[in-house]
Amino acid sequence: MNIKTLEDLFIHALSDVYSAEKQITRALPKMARAATDPELISAFQAHLEQTHGQIERIDKLVEVTENVKIKRMKCLAMEGLVEEGQEIIDEVEKGPVRDAGLIAAAQKVEHYEIATYGTLCALAGLLQYSEAKNLLAETLKEEKDTDIKLSKLATIKVNIAS
Ligand SMILES: [Fe+2]
Ligand SMILES: [Fe+2]
Repeated sequence: MNIKTLEDLFIHALSDVYSAEKQITRALPKMARAATDPELISAFQAHLEQTHGQIERIDKLVEVTENVKIKRMKCLAMEGLVEEGQEIIDEVEKGPVRDAGLIAAAQKVEHYEIATYGTLCALAGLLQYSEAKNLLAETLKEEKDTDIKLSKLATIKVNIAS
């Protein structure tokens, strides 16, 4: 039992999402290549750029927050979500139906991230890590905006195409 305090829990959740973001940077280029709709491709590419920034933001958080260091660990939930996206690529022929599946897979990723960053923001607040909280809130907003963007693409484009 290595997690005893809220600080420990914060570090655990932060290390988990750090691994998740790294996995996403490897998955998004594959998803972009697998997609057909140009707006969906550019949404994946734009979120890849954003994700690099989110990783840098976690590095910055570690720099500015005393006693917070990233532990080496693998986010197993993200491993599973990425696998589900790969399943769509393997099982669905390129085209609007695959695009719809890719959007669904990407939204599961966003929702996982929204839950995680929501928790991290709350913990940072409790621990009075004010700068960390601001950094986490910026990323949380990006994840929410991405989710909304994907929802719009799903309703406008993919539903018309199918
Ligand atoms: Fe992210
Ligand atoms: Fe994301």
